[in-house]
Amino acid sequence: MANNEKISLGENVSVPVHVGVIMDGNGRWAKKRGLPRKFGHREGAKTFRAITRHAKALGIQYITYYAFSTENWKRPKDEVDAIMDLFEKYLDEVRDFIEENIRVRFIGDRTRLSENLQRKMASVEEDSKDFDSMTLVLAINYGGRDEICHAAKTLAQQVKEGKLEPEDITMDMIERNLYTEEIPPVDLVIRPSGEQRLSNFMIWQAAYAEFYYTNILWPDFKGSDLDKAVIAYSERNRRFGGV
Ligand code: FPP
Repeated sequence: MANNEKISLGENVSVPVHVGVIMDGNGRWAKKRGLPRKFGHREGAKTFRAITRHAKALGIQYITYYAFSTENWKRPKDEVDAIMDLFEKYLDEVRDFIEENIRVRFIGDRTRLSENLQRKMASVEEDSKDFDSMTLVLAINYGGRDEICHAAKTLAQQVKEGKLEPEDITMDMIERNLYTEEIPPVDLVIRPSGEQRLSNFMIWQAAYAEFYYTNILWPDFKGSDLDKAVIAYSERNRRFGGV
C-alpha cells in the first residue's frame, strides 16, 4: 500500500478515533500447521505491520496493540525470548513508520524489559514525537490493573507529601497518571481468534468501548477484516450511559 493512500468505506461510515487490538490466535495458527508457536508470532508481527498501514489509510487516529501482557511472562522461556526478539526486530522496522509520519508510543511497565529494548523504545518515541498522521501505541508488559495500581501509588505519594487531599482526587487525575496520559479513550476493541474477553487490556480506557469479535486467527486477519470491524462499529448506537 502506498504511504499516503486513503480508503473510504462510504460517507455513512464513522471511523473510530481509537482502536484497540488484542492480537490473539498466533499459537493456534502455528499449531494448525504443525509449527512451533513462535512461527505464529512471526506471522502475527507481519499482520501487525499490514494492519497498521491499513488503519492509517482508513483515517483511524490511534491504534493500540496488546503485544505482551504482564501475565505473558508465565509462558515458556523460549516463547518469551522469541517474542522479545520480534520486538527488537520490529522496533528497527518501526522506523519505517516514522517515515510515514506515524507517532509511536509504548505503554506498560518497561522496567522488566532488556536495557537494549528500553533504549530503542525511548529513541523511537523521541524521534517520532512530533508526527501526526496517526499514533501507534504498543502495549508491552502491560496490564490494566497494574496501570491503575501504578496511578494509585503516584497519587498516594502526592497525598503523603501533603501536595494533595484525598477528597480532591478526581477521575481526571487518575487518567492523567495512566500510561495513556494524553491518548483518548478506546472506541473499538477488536479481538480475533474467537475469544470474547478483555484480558486486562485497557480496562479503564475501554469502559465505553464497543467490542468486535471474530473467529479469524490474528495471523490471518486482513485489511478487509478491519473494514468489517469498523463498519460494525459504525452501525452501533453508542449511548455512554444515556438513553
Ligand atoms: C497472543 O496469541 C499473542 C501474543 C501473546 C504475542 C503477540 C506478539 C506478536 C504478534 C509479536 C510481535 C508484535 C509486534 C508488535 C512486533 P497466543 O499466543 O495467545 O495465541 P493462542 O491463543 O492461539 O495460543
